[in-house]
Amino acid sequence: MRFFILGIIVTIVVAFVAAIAIAQFGLLPTSAAATPPAFETRIAGNALDASMDRHAPRVNNPLPASDQNLIDGMQVYDMNCAVCHGSLDYKPSLLEHSMYPPPPQIVMEPLDDPEWHLYYAIRTGVRYTGMPAWSKALSEQDMWKVTAFLSRLEKLPPAVQEHWKKVYGTSPEEHHGEEHEQHGAHEHHD
Ligand code: HEC
Repeated sequence: MRFFILGIIVTIVVAFVAAIAIAQFGLLPTSAAATPPAFETRIAGNALDASMDRHAPRVNNPLPASDQNLIDGMQVYDMNCAVCHGSLDYKPSLLEHSMYPPPPQIVMEPLDDPEWHLYYAIRTGVRYTGMPAWSKALSEQDMWKVTAFLSRLEKLPPAVQEHWKKVYGTSPEEHHGEEHEQHGAHEHHD
């Protein structure tokens, strides 16, 4: 029994040292231009969802989903998020294939997560990806406004849709049901 336990410990230590050696000898790739393999996307996506389920407080949006707040949220999105997640004129982001993992194109593929989930992702970011923690850059109010906007992308009130169309030349109405081919972005399933 003693040797058995010793064997397990030695195996763990050897595996740990080997992993560090692999990294130190420069054997791990650093290019962000690659597409993550499907198994990695699946495992990482499940881990992200599970961690958010465990850590994110179930909070409600303290702001009313008024036309003005949603329009403000649209503006916050345009100024801070569109560069990675796609612009409001329905063009994919210039960086769509330039990050590892790639940023989901939220305008073209709206998320169906609840507001507490979106707010947590926005506030705390996603470690080991390009998703920043916006709590360090935006006010609480602006984070809630963009959360409200993103959670209602497909059911915005008429005045907000009109504003969208006026400023960006098109609106969700005109793109309803279109498919956008995502490459390696993690799938949503909750
Ligand atoms: C520099 C690029 C970049 C910017 C700017 C950026 N994001 Fe992200 N975002 C990402 C990436 C990359 C992911 C994918 C993370 C992953 O694969 O898990 C992501 C994921 C997300 C998610 C989904 C998290 C989940 O649970 O799947 C939300 C919501 C989100 N971003 C919202 C925003 C909002 C709102 C802004 C602007 C305030 C923003 N992002 C700005 C790169 C960015």
